[in-house]
Amino acid sequence: MYDISGYKITSEPVILGIESSCDETACAILRGRKLLSNCIISSASEQAKYGGVVPEIASRIHTEAVGKVTQDALREAGLAPSDIDAVAVTYGAGLLGALLVGLSFAKGFAYALNIPLIGVSHIRGHLAAAYLDDPSLKPPYVTLLASGGHTAILHTKSYTQFEVLAKTLDDAAGEAMDKCARVLGLPYPGGPHIQRAAQGGTACIKFPSAQVKHGTGTAFSYSGLKTAVINYCHNLSQKGLPVPVADVAASFQKAAIDPLVDNTVRMALKSGVSTVTAGGGVIANAYLRQRLREECAKADLKLVLPEVKFCTDNAAMIASEGLNKYLSGDFAPMDINAAAQVELK
Ligand code: KG4
Ligand code: ZN
Repeated sequence: MYDISGYKITSEPVILGIESSCDETACAILRGRKLLSNCIISSASEQAKYGGVVPEIASRIHTEAVGKVTQDALREAGLAPSDIDAVAVTYGAGLLGALLVGLSFAKGFAYALNIPLIGVSHIRGHLAAAYLDDPSLKPPYVTLLASGGHTAILHTKSYTQFEVLAKTLDDAAGEAMDKCARVLGLPYPGGPHIQRAAQGGTACIKFPSAQVKHGTGTAFSYSGLKTAVINYCHNLSQKGLPVPVADVAASFQKAAIDPLVDNTVRMALKSGVSTVTAGGGVIANAYLRQRLREECAKADLKLVLPEVKFCTDNAAMIASEGLNKYLSGDFAPMDINAAAQVELK
């Protein structure tokens, strides 16, 4: 079968995915829904020295890493470039300079092989991580998306159509994790350190919930919670008292995560779907994963929870969404540009 652009279309394509939106340079290869390789070169430890991602450093490291990580992925899959049927690449959202490295590499790769280029939204990639865990997954389902850039509950109605049921009005959950970690003197990226610290404490401090009213519906807001944590720590420091890091981490984690889990289950039931999925770096959180498992079991909802390595940034999820777009013939033109922001919908 050929599409209108003249590309040969197969039902089980070999798709090479490339991701470079932030501090991870990643390449993965899928044959149909089967993951053949998944490689990643992270600059997170380099970025940790600066307490966050420095865009210039990220772009330079992507430039050095993108060729190598692609060779690694081809070797791990036992394939040659000529075996690839399409290249899927993140075009946004993210750091522009970082995105341009992966996008330009992917364009060159697709052009040289005369195969389709597929532009993937990073957010849709996080949603498509669930297909890696359960290849039999089919829409409709409700997803909890929580990353460093986005926090939302979405209703995926088909492979190409979804509705935002609730979202954050300000910071994303991951951003709040990173900021609170910094206040507590924990390193970047903060999420895993908050999780570790919280395991040694109890959620005994009453911080405001991240759930807020928005018109007649529900939304999330992390600015009030973040300010409450900052004020709590500053008040103690001003009195010369020690900050109970473990208890603050546990209390913050609960206030940040409980509303996400509770509303995901509530909205899934209200939408009439029988399946819940999740995606994004914050879904790597052990407390969130446990609560989501418990609440979905209680509500008799099937939960598709991607492995931790598919929650944080990776290229397998980009190839996974690339497959959805490939099968609907949604290819990108060669002048596709990087975008710092991408609409959730
Ligand atoms: O999806 P992701 O890797 O990158 C973006 O698309 O933003 O998400 C990164 C975010 C960071 O804010 C990081 O602190 C958070 O995910 N994160 C976690 C955990 N692992 C990563 N948050 C809570 N608990 C974790 N275990
Ligand atoms: Zn991400």
